[in-house]
Amino acid sequence: MIVLGIESSCDETGLAVYDSDRGLLAHALHSQISLHDEYGGVVPELASRDHIRRITPLLRDVLDRSGTTLGDLDAIAYTRGPGLAGALLVGAGVAASLAYGLDIPAIGIHHLEGHLLSPLLAPDRPAFPFVALLVSGGHTQLMRVDGVGEYTLLGETVDDAAGEAFDKTAKFLGLPYPGGPALSALAERGHPGKFRFPRPMIASGDLDFSFSGLKTAVVTACREIRLNEQARADVAHAFQEAVSDVLAVKCTAALTSTGLTDLVVAGGVGANRRLRAVLAQRARTEGFRLFYPPLELCTDNGAMIALAGALRLARLSGGPATAARGFSVKPRWDLASVGTMADS
Ligand code: KG4
Ligand code: ZN
Repeated sequence: MIVLGIESSCDETGLAVYDSDRGLLAHALHSQISLHDEYGGVVPELASRDHIRRITPLLRDVLDRSGTTLGDLDAIAYTRGPGLAGALLVGAGVAASLAYGLDIPAIGIHHLEGHLLSPLLAPDRPAFPFVALLVSGGHTQLMRVDGVGEYTLLGETVDDAAGEAFDKTAKFLGLPYPGGPALSALAERGHPGKFRFPRPMIASGDLDFSFSGLKTAVVTACREIRLNEQARADVAHAFQEAVSDVLAVKCTAALTSTGLTDLVVAGGVGANRRLRAVLAQRARTEGFRLFYPPLELCTDNGAMIALAGALRLARLSGGPATAARGFSVKPRWDLASVGTMADS
């Protein structure tokens, strides 16, 4: 089955062609980072307009590079939510129109399900059941994953997501949007031990997280010092240590409480090198296995949506349904509620 994937939930337009026999054939991405940079965050209306501009050229590009034509497609998967309503509508509208024209099904995918299944695109693939840490700009969740659509929420952030904390702290330190990669680069020049920030909820006894206090701790510490270049790097270093420690401790606790031994880490913050090093160290001492998507598929992309669509459609007995004539998006959507059925 050949599936076109379309991702447009936030500030990346991602398209991909995935073949259930041959794997990922091609993916194409346009990031709007420079578009939103001067505002310090994503401007929804600008995001929607840019998705409209980019989506057709990217579609042509991804079809060319995958050696397929529209006529080869068996289905189209698009991000139905969660995300920015206007941005989601662009991908959903294109997916539904194409599917209608080609008389093939369009299937709406939960953005986090895409992230969660994305390690299946790597050569070293996890097997169900596993624990997944989803760490993105909008979410920080621990999930038990028993199969496609079988997701049980184990814990989540009670306030800011880890990526959001990276972005806000980076902004405070004067770094460009999105802050995660910039803060991480600055942290590499920081001296260990100059600052120590709290590890919020590390001993809470549950699998929930809290990151908003950490950002406040950074602001408070910075008020008391002269914030020169080295001090900024030292602060970034200590911040990254605190976030990585909390995430690693909670992941280990989730594996212990479920009795599972495979941990999947997905979402933009999963690209963080220090987090990966801390988790690798824990994996060695605690005896669990770690899985990531390929590095370029950690942040938003169409490949994870195409894959999730192919896996969902493969579960439907009697093959994919025919094209639906309507579509809707779900800007707010709880992953644990998606279930195992196709949602078009
Ligand atoms: O998954 P993603 O691309 O989009 C959402 O669904 O949110 O994640 C984006 C988030 C942003 O907050 C960004 O700052 C963060 O992931 N991020 C990182 C790194 N790369 C991206 N955070 C820390 N270290 C990184 N290397
Ligand atoms: Zn994402």
